[in-house]
Amino acid sequence: MAEAFKFDWDVPSESIAEVRRRTLYPFKSSGQETDAEMRENSTTVFGAVSQAGEPVGCIAVLDEPNHDCALRVRWLGVDDAVRGRGLGARLVQATQVYAATRQLGLWADVRVKAIPVYERLEFEPFGDFFELPNIGRHRVMRWWPAGLQP
Ligand SMILES: CC(C)(COP(=O)(O)OP(=O)(O)OC[C@H]1O[C@@H](n2cnc3c(N)ncnc32)[C@H](O)[C@@H]1OP(=O)(O)O)[C@@H](O)C(=O)NCCC(=O)NCCS
Repeated sequence: MAEAFKFDWDVPSESIAEVRRRTLYPFKSSGQETDAEMRENSTTVFGAVSQAGEPVGCIAVLDEPNHDCALRVRWLGVDDAVRGRGLGARLVQATQVYAATRQLGLWADVRVKAIPVYERLEFEPFGDFFELPNIGRHRVMRWWPAGLQP
């Protein structure tokens, strides 16, 4: 039987807190301290993908202007067991739909492993690679809805 994955947009931060932690920050412990940054910016919108009612992936988009783009994409994570099926790409696509609705550009600090996912969705690299402690090499990627690229 084909596996069913359900995508939800604008979900509460609590619902994706644990999948965010285990996919992106497995070296951190569960709890308030790890989750606090999810509530720092009240414009943050969270997306989730679930399997059998349990979140297996997440993403967020928030108003944080930088690099000539108004919106930042953060916290793309998909559980190991369900990677390589296009779930990550569909989560990023949901942020593109959101950005297109608002007619605003997107930027993200993207881990090396995820760069191809963003590139396939027509994000463009910007600037040099850089290191973030505990996490590794990143690059800024940017994308604009049609006609808005400066
Ligand atoms: C990066 C990450 C989110 C990707 O999630 P994912 O669901 O595996 O992403 P996708 O399935 O869309 O794409 C991943 C790969 O699967 C391939 N793929 C997608 N659908 C596929 C399918 N139906 N059949 C075969 N391969 C497929 C893609 O081509 C891609 O290959 P590539 O990376 O070698 O180019 C996931 O690996 C992850 O959570 N990593 C840890 C946290 C992390 O680094 N997050 C990114 C922060 S910027």
